[in-house]
Formats: sequence, C-alpha cells, structure tokens
Amino acid sequence: MEKREKFVAKTYAGLEEILLEELEQLGAENCKLSTRAVLFEGDMDTMYRANYFCRYALRILWQVGEFHFRDNKQFYEEIYKYPAEKVLKSNGTLAFSVTMKDAIFSTPLFAAQLAKDAVCDRFREKYDERPSVRKENPDVQFHIHIMGDRATLFLDSSGEPLYRRGYRVASHPAQISEVIAAAMVKLSGWQADCDLIDPMCGSGTILIEAVLAALNVPAGFFRRSFGFYRWKTFDQKRWEQIQDEADIRDDVPVNFYGSDISGRFIGMAKDNIREARLTDFIRVRRSPMNESRPVRTPSFVIFNPPYGERLDMEDIEQAYKEMGDTLKQHYAGCTAFIISSNVNALKNIGLHASKRFTLYNGALECKFMRFDLYKGTKNGDFRNLQNENSDN
Ligand SMILES: C[S@@+](CC[C@H](N)C(=O)[O-])C[C@H]1O[C@@H](n2cnc3c(N)ncnc32)[C@H](O)[C@@H]1O
Repeated sequence: MEKREKFVAKTYAGLEEILLEELEQLGAENCKLSTRAVLFEGDMDTMYRANYFCRYALRILWQVGEFHFRDNKQFYEEIYKYPAEKVLKSNGTLAFSVTMKDAIFSTPLFAAQLAKDAVCDRFREKYDERPSVRKENPDVQFHIHIMGDRATLFLDSSGEPLYRRGYRVASHPAQISEVIAAAMVKLSGWQADCDLIDPMCGSGTILIEAVLAALNVPAGFFRRSFGFYRWKTFDQKRWEQIQDEADIRDDVPVNFYGSDISGRFIGMAKDNIREARLTDFIRVRRSPMNESRPVRTPSFVIFNPPYGERLDMEDIEQAYKEMGDTLKQHYAGCTAFIISSNVNALKNIGLHASKRFTLYNGALECKFMRFDLYKGTKNGDFRNLQNENSDN
C-alpha cells in the first residue's frame, strides 16, 4: 500500500464543513477542520482525486516537511535536506511563497529567498546544475508556512487556484467565484428536484455550477492543467484512471433559467454556458428581475444582486425592495436564496430570513439568506411556523 501523506485543502471561510464532507466522500482519511482549510491524509491518488473532484477547495497542498529552527542558518539547512530532486528536474523552474506569523524573518520574501537558495544550492552541489526561479507558473510551487520557530514545507499540487474551472471564457466585472457559487448551491439544500432560477445571472456562474453538480461533472473537468502535471513523479496513467472514475450523468429532470437586465452580460453567460457544454440545459434571456416568474412551482431561486460595490445601482435600497416585492408577488411556493454584502440593502427585501450563512465573496463578507415564500397570503410573508426551518 502506498505511503500515507499529509495534505491541506484550502478554502474560503465558511466552507470548511462542506469541504470536509466532500473529502471524506472521496476517501480522504483523518479529515480535520482548520481555519479556511481542511487537513487530511491519503496517498497520491487521494491528492489527484481532491484536485479533480472537490468543488469547494481552492488548492491542495502536500505537506513534505516540518521542522523547528533557531536562526537563518538552521532554516536554510532544514530546507536543504528536502530531496527536491524527487519532484523537480535540475533544469526545471521553481518558486517559493511564504506565509508567516511571529517569525524571526523581517519579511516573507527574505525567508522565500533563503529557501530558494537552499534548494538551488543542493541541486548545484549534487548535480552540477540548478533550477531557475519562475514566479508565474513554475514547474514546482513550494509554500512554507511559518509559525514562530516552526516551519511546514508544502508543494502546491493545484497550480492555478481550483476556482478556475476552465469554462469561464467571458469575464463579468462582478462575477462570483465558482467555488462560492458551487457552495451556495450546496448550502441552499437544492437537490436537483425542482427548477433553478437565477434572475440576475450575470455571466451565469451559479447556474453553470448547479448543472455541473447535478450532472456529477467533476469540478476539474474543463481544466487544462494542474500543478502536479510538471512534477517528476506525475503518473499520467494513474491520473487518467482517476479521471475515468467520474460517473457523469447525461440528463437532469429539471430546468435552469437565467435572466439579467444587461444584454452584454447575457452574451457572456451564453459564452460560458457554451464553453461548459451546457447549452441544452440552461436557458438565458435578457429581462429585468421584476418581470421574472417561475415556470413551475415550487422552484428554487438563487441569486447574487449588485452590492453597490463593483456594480453601480442608482437607488440600491429601492432596488432591493423591488426584488423582495417580485419574490412576494410572483414566487409564492418557492424558496429564494440571496447573497449580498450590503446588509442595509438586504433589510429592504422585506421578508423574514429563515436561515442565514456568512460567506466571503473575495474580500467582502456576505450574508447568504434563505426566504421561504409561502402560499396563502397576498404578500407571501406569511410565517407558517410548522413549515419554517429556522436556525436563527
Ligand atoms: C453581482 S452581478 C451577478 C454576477 C453573476 N453571479 C456572475 O457570476 O457573473 C449582478 C447582476 O445583476 C444584474 N442586474 C442589476 N439590476 C438588475 C435588474 N433590475 N434585473 C435583472 N438583472 C439586474 C446586473 O446586470 C449584474 O449582471
């Protein structure tokens, strides 16, 4: 049996638990929650699987060393000991990134340079040839995490962050991270058992992530590369076998509708949907939110309105009030989820949130709120206590 290795899956704050569950389902062992991360163990297959299948991870780091050090010299010596030639060719390229807290080094850059010197000196002394530094897209990206006098050495197995799924060909100015969009679909509890509507779909990220999840398409299906592709240890045959484990469905029995007030953004959504090969699944059209209606009831509505940060809205509070009015008047019997960083604007929705999560869209702290739009009252704000599933 292959050796057990230690890994760290990085993610956004608030997604640790769903990532842990996902890793366990992939066979990862000893999974533990950490801050914006999940620690786990497994073999190289587990590392390949995590990169290919995880929807909620940003990158997968392989822990290859851990040591204490007193001074620069000992730090250098400990890095020198790591047999980097196992993964890196002597004429290859490398880069180091460092995060640190309470460390002896004046800057992370200084620690990164010392570590790079140690690896390059080892190559020169042992093989008479040394790798060169390449900041962008190196063959091997090292990462060192330093806490006081303790350092942990990692190899970044993902390369480009895993939210770069590979289907996004059009770039919307306020697009949501693919990882957050996938997490919103998961946290909403939608189970591909009713239609899904995004009435402010922009470039279509939420709908695309929902269909990919419903069809069981691996999160990494469209990516052209992963960090480990250029490691000496890369096992192409094993990687292909792992990709073949994907059990992709060819249909899902519900419909997906997107609309947006901007024709330009609808054009972007169409481009991304085409690139993700989902034109048979998602219908998008130009239309304002107040004209959107569910085709069938119940439906799920998940959307990401402007927050008034990256996209201007003339009267943001009035706009949120109108969103609430549309949901109340036309979506009775449906479930709506809204993500926004604008807490004041959210108050204008005028509906009672039965559940709320805190998520981060980039640096912005957001509320992701559930609204149950009950039938039976004119304004849809009737609180059926028997049905209400509130955690707050
Ligand atoms: C934050 S962006 C959504 C980004 C999208 N989730 C993505 O990943 O590309 C908000 C979108 O709401 C749209 N929008 C603003 N006001 C609208 C309205 N009244 N009706 C429909 N769409 C609207 C904007 O055009 C914009 O595309």
